Amino acid sequence: MSNQRPIGVFDSGVGGLTVAREIMRQMPDERIVYFGDTARVPYGSKSRVTIIRFVRQIVRFLETKKVKAIAIACNTASSYALDTIEAEVDLPIIGVVKPGARTAIRTTVNRRIGVIGTDATINSGMYPQYIHSLAPDIEVFGKACPLFCPLVEEGMLHDFVTEEIAHRYLTELKGRDIDTLILGCTHYPLIRSLIGKCMGPGVQLVNPAYETAVSLRDMLREKDLLAAPLPAGSEPHHEFYVSDGAEKFENFANSILPYDIRKTQVVDIEGYSMEKING
Ligand code: DGL
Repeated sequence: MSNQRPIGVFDSGVGGLTVAREIMRQMPDERIVYFGDTARVPYGSKSRVTIIRFVRQIVRFLETKKVKAIAIACNTASSYALDTIEAEVDLPIIGVVKPGARTAIRTTVNRRIGVIGTDATINSGMYPQYIHSLAPDIEVFGKACPLFCPLVEEGMLHDFVTEEIAHRYLTELKGRDIDTLILGCTHYPLIRSLIGKCMGPGVQLVNPAYETAVSLRDMLREKDLLAAPLPAGSEPHHEFYVSDGAEKFENFANSILPYDIRKTQVVDIEGYSMEKING
């Protein structure tokens, strides 16, 4: 049995493209419907109640696109809203926090892991909580890096300002003797080389996107939802939606994806409400 319906993937903006890119790489037959909430980015400074409301609207939107599963390609939304949404929606849903934490546990040798993310992700305590549930002996050090997301959204990936801010944020973690650092925001893999340079060669960087795509594939296989192989030479048609600034998003996405986006559509996301999910 196969299932040709698309996978819904979303984030507050361009960060989730790092997860979409990995899904495209690992599952070249799958179609993706991507939503970037570019009108309301960043999520990291917002409250749990607000994030849950945003996520409900996006999930409702993705349901109208007849997705077969959803990947929350955002650590902030995964930390604050995954449990709530899972209980409300009858679709397989995966977040990025657990897959990222599992990779870090496998990676660390000295049992000292750092996590960088938004204020919301770090304050939620989701990473240490999940890591400790699997490996209570591991020490976890969190550091919020709230300016990274807007800098990435502005495309300042190789800018000296971003480098300076990275140094300020990461100096504290460098003193913690960690050997593994989780890039706990899907925007951060886009400045991976800069973060790596700051942390030095003794620290392994973990990008949860890889493991998230692996877990997603396992989940689809288990539920008999994997797409059938495409004919040789053809590629799936992915769809991209944003809540604002379609052209800026599209330019950015085309610079990092192995897929040429032809059209990004703007969605009035506030028009999608939870009542409709259950209605
Ligand atoms: N990329 C998101 C994350 O993984 C959100 C960043 C933001 O909007 O603040 O947390």
